[in-house]
Amino acid sequence: MTGSTTAAVTGATGFLGSALCERLLADGWDVRGLSRPTSDRGDLEGVEWYVGDLFDDETLADLVDGVDTVFHLAGIGLWSAGPETVYRVNADGTARVLEACRQGDVGRLVFTSTSGTRRPPDGAEVADETDVAEPIGAYQASKAEAERMVDEYAATGGDAVTVHPTSIFGPGDEEFTAQLLAMGLEPTMPAYLPGGLSIVGVSDVVDGLLLADERGTNGEHYVLGGENLTYNQAVRRIAHAADGTPARIQVPSLAIQAAGPVAEAASAVAGVRMFPFDRQMASLATQRLFYTSRKAERELGYEYRPLEDHLPETMAWYREEV
Ligand SMILES: NC(=O)c1ccc[n+]([C@@H]2O[C@H](COP(=O)([O-])OP(=O)(O)OC[C@H]3O[C@@H](n4cnc5c(N)ncnc54)[C@H](OP(=O)(O)O)[C@@H]3O)[C@@H](O)[C@H]2O)c1
Repeated sequence: MTGSTTAAVTGATGFLGSALCERLLADGWDVRGLSRPTSDRGDLEGVEWYVGDLFDDETLADLVDGVDTVFHLAGIGLWSAGPETVYRVNADGTARVLEACRQGDVGRLVFTSTSGTRRPPDGAEVADETDVAEPIGAYQASKAEAERMVDEYAATGGDAVTVHPTSIFGPGDEEFTAQLLAMGLEPTMPAYLPGGLSIVGVSDVVDGLLLADERGTNGEHYVLGGENLTYNQAVRRIAHAADGTPARIQVPSLAIQAAGPVAEAASAVAGVRMFPFDRQMASLATQRLFYTSRKAERELGYEYRPLEDHLPETMAWYREEV
């Protein structure tokens, strides 16, 4: 990679985006990052910051014009905002990025969606890119709509690839990663969930983003997953690797589903997101949401590493920061 290759990264100040920026800089890219005025830009030295948000058309136009690749990662989940804001940022925000790309001189767009727009069909163990699911909640609906717009852009003269990371694990993530680690490390954590999920290290997702840019086919979608583990397995493996004591009491699925509406009501009143925070999400937490990354492995050369490979760095961060 030569220094003349330029990337524009939206969501550059986030968990995944900052890891991507670090890697792009290390690989010799010129990196432009979108940052809101209030964003914590951390210690990412070398990023050229464009200050504004997804709805600031002028900043977006300057950010993307003349770059080889736009990595569009900015987005929010129901952890941090209400459904209207989530939909606006993820769907309408993506429309703004696409418009800036249409108007500017842009190479490829790599859009980060979520595996949540796919689910294993009845009777199947795992889901792949073809298993498009009826969206549950504003987050999935907004990502599904953003995917549709990106596909349309790819089909009408643009060049775009969509990636679908599963649950991302790594240093800097105070949500999913911190919760999972707490379940493995803190004997006081009361319970873990009965379902399962695909856990992927943040550095593996960064590899996948770069491979999608380099080798992905225009208009295609790629699941970027990791190991498929039940919560029980994940918590035990964390506890084993860290010499912690795993949570001992398993909450039955029914109890979690019953707790859903309570958490939903409390979230609405207190303005605080709890996990699981609504009925539908509660029911998802009891399922095994397993994925295969076979297509990315075959077509991009994507590989993921086991949970243990990502633990030392993540635990060092957790012990220091959380
Ligand atoms: N984490 C996961 O497990 C996971 C799994 C699948 C897909 N994804 C997707 O991956 C992407 C990155 O996720 P993440 O975990 O890194 O999230 P994150 O840490 O919350 O980062 C989100 C980024 O988006 C930016 N952003 C939010 N609203 C914005 C707006 N209106 N205008 C401009 N920037 C805005 C944030 O800026 P501030 O710094 O100012 O807040 C931040 O840089 C998201 O699209 C997410 O849906 C994540």
